[in-house]
Amino acid sequence: MNRDKRKRLGDIIREKLGPIDAVLCFRAEDLQELLRNEGAHPHRIEFSTLKAYRESRNKWFKTSGLLVEQGKEWHDLRTNTQKHLLKPSAIRAYLNPMQDVSRDLTLRIFDMRDENKEVPDMLPELYKWALESVSLVGLDTRLGSLQKDLPPESDGMQMINSVLTQFECMNKLEPFAGNIPFWKLFPTPTWRRFEKASDVYAKIAFKYINQSLQRLKEMDDTDDKKLTLLQAMLAKKDLSVPDAMVFVADMLMAGIDTTSHTVGFLLYHLARNRDKQEKLHQEITKFLPSKDLKITSSIYEEMRYLKACIKESMRLNPVVGGTARTLVKDAVLGGYKIPAGTMVFISFEEIFADEKYFKNPNEYLPERWLNKEERPPPYSFTPFGFGPRSCIGKRLAELEMSCFLTDVIRNFKVEYHYEDIGMYKRIANTPDKPLRFRFVER
Ligand code: HEM
Repeated sequence: MNRDKRKRLGDIIREKLGPIDAVLCFRAEDLQELLRNEGAHPHRIEFSTLKAYRESRNKWFKTSGLLVEQGKEWHDLRTNTQKHLLKPSAIRAYLNPMQDVSRDLTLRIFDMRDENKEVPDMLPELYKWALESVSLVGLDTRLGSLQKDLPPESDGMQMINSVLTQFECMNKLEPFAGNIPFWKLFPTPTWRRFEKASDVYAKIAFKYINQSLQRLKEMDDTDDKKLTLLQAMLAKKDLSVPDAMVFVADMLMAGIDTTSHTVGFLLYHLARNRDKQEKLHQEITKFLPSKDLKITSSIYEEMRYLKACIKESMRLNPVVGGTARTLVKDAVLGGYKIPAGTMVFISFEEIFADEKYFKNPNEYLPERWLNKEERPPPYSFTPFGFGPRSCIGKRLAELEMSCFLTDVIRNFKVEYHYEDIGMYKRIANTPDKPLRFRFVER
């Protein structure tokens, strides 16, 4: 869509997106300029659905969370949460339990394969894996979502359905996705579904957060090393229970479709590029010669080809297609002076696929990330966004994806024998065909 517009209209476009008068940009240079002019409290277009819902449920939420808040409210919550979630040692502490989650998914694959060794669609299982991974950190619990025949009334199944319904409804309700917000005038059926699904999440999350708080109160000493990430946030009074509620709500909103779709595309690219898959397998077996060995912190550091494989897939299929900022100062973008206060959208999809920044942009070439001469220029690769408002779950997402990729590739050769997979453009871009992989055990 953006590509056609760009071909017709050029590198900078003025456009009405629903009710918003906006500017659309497609170049790394403009992204850099945007970063210079976003101010200390970067203003990103908000999810007005989440804002309206959270404001209406003040028994659970006292603020509207990182995805929604702006200004000082955003800044305070961001400061108090990022010192935990972006701290490498705090995330590395999850290396072992995260590998247990990944192992459960590998075991599910063994179990689900048909007589042709195929899983008809990996996506539902990837959603469960992502939910399980985020809940491990955010809710301090293993929900058990990867169990065989998960009952519909289990917390895991209710959570996953709730998050998927929330997303589906947001795509139909959000004004910035081009919808007319009738729901602001009266509760439309989609709005009511959205509220109901969000309530399911909130009740379950509240239960687990309170359980974690209870365990914290029962501890003799609150030695940092014994605390989980959630408990450390609560113990240090960085977060109150309502803050934790909204933070975990954001983690689930932002951390399920994103990681699961990314891993789906990643398996697809590795299945389509078997030489790269074999190279990755060699790296894995070099560091982990037997299948029961676990990734340690130092091995994690050294698995460079693995990280390159992930990056390259995120370049070809960025699940977040772009972001937006409101300019705090006048700025020159694409040769035009754009006044302060304008909402500027920047397309990652266009930048990551631009021949100007990436040689052979349509090819899956993890090597480009390892070769100093080939490294793309600054600001041409920002799948997690940029500046102080970039993704707070970046390290967590990288850890989750690395653990699963290691376990799946050391256990299986992954094959794909069907039509090319592209992206449906959504709030989180989605594979447009079933993720029908063949898993041949190694
Ligand atoms: C592959 C996985 C992921 C991708 C590609 C991704 C990408 C992004 C992007 C592009 C943004 C907007 C940044 C900007 O505007 O500059 C963002 C924001 C955010 N992400 Fe992620 N994300 C991923 C996983 C996660 C996970 C696992 C979490 C869970 C903690 C998470 C939580 C958030 C939150 C809370 C924000 C809002 C941050 C703020 O406004 O301060 N994300 N993410």
